[in-house]
Amino acid sequence: MTSATSTETPAAGAAAPTPQRIGVPREIFPGEKRVATVPDVVAKLVKLGFAVVVEQGAGDLADLSDAAYVEAGASIAPNAAALWSGSDIVFKVRAPTADEVALMHEGQTLIGFLWPAQNPELMQQLVAKKVTALSIDALPRTLSRAQKMDALTSMAGVSGYRAVVEAANAFGRFFNGQITAAGKVPPAKVFIAGAGVAGLAAIGAAASLGAIVRANDTRAEVADQVVSLGGEFVKVDYEEEGSGGGGYAKVMSEGFQAAQRAMYAQQAREVDIIVTTALIPGKPAPKLITAEMVKSMKPGSVIVDMAAEQGGNCELTEPGKAVVKHGVTIIGYTDLASRMARQSSTLYGTNLFRLTEELCKTKDGVINVNMQDDAIRGLTVVKNGEITWPAPPLAAAPKPPAKPVAAVAEKKGGHGHGSSGPLPAKTLAVVFGLGALAFWAIGAYAPPAFLAHFTVFVLACFIGYMVVWNVTPALHTPLMSVTNAVSSIIVIGALVQILPPEAGSNGRPDTLIQWLAFAGIVLTAVNMFGGFAVTRRMLDMFRK
Ligand code: NAI
Repeated sequence: MTSATSTETPAAGAAAPTPQRIGVPREIFPGEKRVATVPDVVAKLVKLGFAVVVEQGAGDLADLSDAAYVEAGASIAPNAAALWSGSDIVFKVRAPTADEVALMHEGQTLIGFLWPAQNPELMQQLVAKKVTALSIDALPRTLSRAQKMDALTSMAGVSGYRAVVEAANAFGRFFNGQITAAGKVPPAKVFIAGAGVAGLAAIGAAASLGAIVRANDTRAEVADQVVSLGGEFVKVDYEEEGSGGGGYAKVMSEGFQAAQRAMYAQQAREVDIIVTTALIPGKPAPKLITAEMVKSMKPGSVIVDMAAEQGGNCELTEPGKAVVKHGVTIIGYTDLASRMARQSSTLYGTNLFRLTEELCKTKDGVINVNMQDDAIRGLTVVKNGEITWPAPPLAAAPKPPAKPVAAVAEKKGGHGHGSSGPLPAKTLAVVFGLGALAFWAIGAYAPPAFLAHFTVFVLACFIGYMVVWNVTPALHTPLMSVTNAVSSIIVIGALVQILPPEAGSNGRPDTLIQWLAFAGIVLTAVNMFGGFAVTRRMLDMFRK
């Protein structure tokens, strides 16, 4: 009853194609609690024209009942054999086992984390079955259009959060500082090694629990992101750029590594919790935390080594286990996303739905694996029984066209405002000449009192213009608020009215004027102190 994957858009006027059936089996990898779709997503897939079948009990470990799937529009297959044989497309979380591949049939499409580089045997099995396979981990992450399908990112985000929750569970103290009747508790200090997707999620989670968070990464460009999430970026005292392109790191020089070891050793002595997430794709995890560093940590400290599966960032990590060594709990769980199964299933299911939308632009329940589409091409590792992995590298984004030389030269002499540079010298001379002439005319005919005020006015305009023009536009709002505060100098008038009279003068001004002056002082004080406070807060936003 299955229909093969279409590769062409149906011709206009042709009969409506039979909708394909998406099957979601129960994950059989030991300990895996996630499921590849959730009831909310089922409803959206049905709207897109697909039929959805879910294996009985597939969502049990993620707290998603069969009844909820049925309510959303899915049907239930009693077992794996029925599920696999009755589906045109299969959504999986983990790569299928040999037994699962045996249940596949020609023309079927498989979508999941297949890790083609690590699973060459699986690739051959899929070829033998003449299927099409899309490996969600092979998505070209640098394509901004692909972000909605980026399951690696969504899983790493959940895992980074969970790593902090695991650390908090194993740590015997509060994360935030507290002052209680029983005494003062200092905040926990957390150090995050590697500020990629998982690291940033961990920084956000630890900071929101109230800990003092520090982080390091070889890619200097992440420093701002660390700070924006409430962390402090700790730099290695060695100049070397760690970006290897595409948002990933490169292997660093021996000199850098030595300087980094010294900095990490110091952090290990100071902090209570270390979460390590450092990874360079395709390389074993860099060993950043040595046994000596673990020994130097305070008793009761915790290390969560997220890179455990790739060999670990800590020398003493045991993958899949939580162990206590030298009084420090070292957690090497490799299933952090699965430990928040409902959340990660929802995110993963949504990523697969977004991918399905890309595969089924016609919204008729039939997918089209379009190899001309960069994102789909990157994901497709086997097409109709032929290996199509690895995809050719993406063409670099076209450089913006070079600006004409004249335009560049004009801009160089410009002010902070960029686009509108200074007037050409000739025009400037004419403007000044006309201005001087007008001034002379006013001076010749206007009364002397007017001329004095007018001179002050012209000078004020000139100074104001020069000040505003030389301040970058981003700072104009704080400039306005500080100017507002400075304008409160008018308070002097009110002060003169309220102060005791000088000896020999005509006595105090009447009470009404004094009260008005008092009200003026109060209102001006709001303007003055408020203006300076707002300016300070605004400027703080620009400080690094
Ligand atoms: P990512 O590639 O986004 O981030 C890794 C970061 O490490 C990058 O920012 C990179 O610049 C940095 N890095 C590389 N070498 C470094 C070094 N020597 N020193 C400091 N920083 C360095 O990767 P993502 O997605 O954040 O994943 C991080 C780790 O977490 C990976 O090992 C991944 O396999 C693992 N992971 C583990 C899970 C679990 O259940 N234990 C679940 C999800 C991810």
